[in-house]
Amino acid sequence: MEEIERIREAFDADSRGISSLKDLNRLRIKYLGRRGLVIQELKSLSSLPPSERPPRGRAINDLKAYIESVMERLEEELSAAELKQKIEAESIDITLPGKYIPPGSSHPVNRVLDEIVEIFRFMGFTVEEGPEVELDYYNFEALNIPKDHPAREMQDTFYVAAGGGGGRLPAESDVVLRTHTSPVQIRVMEKRRPPLRFIAPGKVYRCDADVSHTPMFHQVEGLMVDEGVTFAHLKGVLELFIHRLFSTDTPVRFRPSYFPFTEPSAEVDIGCILCRGKGCRVCKGTGWLEVLGAGMVHPRVFEAVGYDPERYTGFAFGMGVERLTMLKFGIDDIRLFFENDIRFLKQFRV
Ligand code: PHE
Repeated sequence: MEEIERIREAFDADSRGISSLKDLNRLRIKYLGRRGLVIQELKSLSSLPPSERPPRGRAINDLKAYIESVMERLEEELSAAELKQKIEAESIDITLPGKYIPPGSSHPVNRVLDEIVEIFRFMGFTVEEGPEVELDYYNFEALNIPKDHPAREMQDTFYVAAGGGGGRLPAESDVVLRTHTSPVQIRVMEKRRPPLRFIAPGKVYRCDADVSHTPMFHQVEGLMVDEGVTFAHLKGVLELFIHRLFSTDTPVRFRPSYFPFTEPSAEVDIGCILCRGKGCRVCKGTGWLEVLGAGMVHPRVFEAVGYDPERYTGFAFGMGVERLTMLKFGIDDIRLFFENDIRFLKQFRV
């Protein structure tokens, strides 16, 4: 029995000196391990005469329970202390510099688009929008583009399978990805009466891809309708636009052209920005660059929306934003806009 008392005292002394979970584990091995002091005592029971075994066995088990309960309490205290220490060691150093997140910037096409919108707003134009997935009627029919017009060809137009796709494309689908922003002319005129003066910027789609064509690109449409609108107004508006977007000394010329939804129609050229009209690779030696399609609204278009063509006249125009952006920044491959190469894009940061 004295032996058991000595072990208890030794344990009490040992347990007071413990300061970590590691120490605690050593203590566990020393007293409760396979060759630990308490276990040795239990084993030594077999050498005692049978009558002495029960009281001594009980005393050893009491000691064992005591040691276990002390160790349990110590373990709780020590692990709480160690966790607290860990948390304190990891506290935030507010004097460290933050992680640098480089700022993004407007895409060059959006930058020029914003500029275009600003110039027309200044001239009193409002901004309208229409859907990119469009009905054949708005994209072609109401714009006086007949069924056999080359613009409708499968190579140029993305037809959308009716009923959400999956199945085979019907030979003649009446849903398309709009090939130009001109359908917005019809949608706005259907809803409103003259006077009208708006632009309609947005994405358009054509099945086409090379250094100057991408399957998706941006256009800005323009439409002005009222009594007494003439070709002179069209010239004045577009000249002022070009002079603001490029420079006031940029020459502008109107060349006769053809669009089914305007009559007369014109193509608008500007003096080559790169060679200043002398002739270079970009203007193919002509000194001129084509930048816009335009014309006076065709009477059939007015008839399609229920406007009286005897009373109202109007002009319309359409321009490609990528093309204007390429000219403004001297970019020679349209595909650069859509490759998401940060080295290209960050050159346009303002
Ligand atoms: N929609 C024509 C095109 O995409 C451009 C245009 C618009 C021409 C308005 C005349 C009037 O080529």
